[in-house]
Amino acid sequence: MADNIHPIFDRLLQRSDREKKLNQRSKVLWLTGLSGSGKSTVAQALERRLHNEGYFAQVLDGDNIRSGINSNLSFSPEDRLENIRRIAEISKLYVNSGIITINSFVSPTIAIRQKAKEIIGEDDFLEIFINTPLHICEARDVKGLYKKARAGEIKGFTGIDAPYEAPPNPDLNVPTENLSIEESAEMIYEFLLDKVKYKLT
Ligand code: ADX
Repeated sequence: MADNIHPIFDRLLQRSDREKKLNQRSKVLWLTGLSGSGKSTVAQALERRLHNEGYFAQVLDGDNIRSGINSNLSFSPEDRLENIRRIAEISKLYVNSGIITINSFVSPTIAIRQKAKEIIGEDDFLEIFINTPLHICEARDVKGLYKKARAGEIKGFTGIDAPYEAPPNPDLNVPTENLSIEESAEMIYEFLLDKVKYKLT
């Protein structure tokens, strides 16, 4: 090694130091599903549940990302990919800070989610399918966007005239149709617990 290079890695704090301090292992939970599937609501319930149990978790979703750092992005396929790429990079910073990160984004294609997984790293990436059928999301239409999409007022709306590719092999499938918000959050919590519990290795 060159004489003028002075590695400081032994003095840098590591992710494992932060995880130890937080008494948890960090992961990225990647919630994917149609608009109106309940991703954000479930994510918030899960965040609260983890918080109450002493874990340090943070939700990232469309409201805090698309209105801020990604406010320059549209819903074209290219911009959706860029949206997810940036979110994955942010999640990587979070997970390296020891934080359990709960992401709630439509992330509509297999390729987009694969990209996120590559950036975050497969050991830290958990794909959770918020599996709510289109007819239910559309019947609920909480934001009135399906009505607009059907009327042609919004073009390229996921599930209507833009694709949604369900994950063929998610780490967890949450069939929300038969579950309350709390039950969906609980299902993810139970799945996660063993993965985030701090154990000395
Ligand atoms: S993603 O496709 O790039 O992952 P993201 O999760 O950030 O999407 O944002 C989705 C949210 O934006 C939807 O829940 C909906 O409220 C809103 N939205 C506005 N236009 C569209 C559209 N064309 N397709 C899907 N969602 C849209």
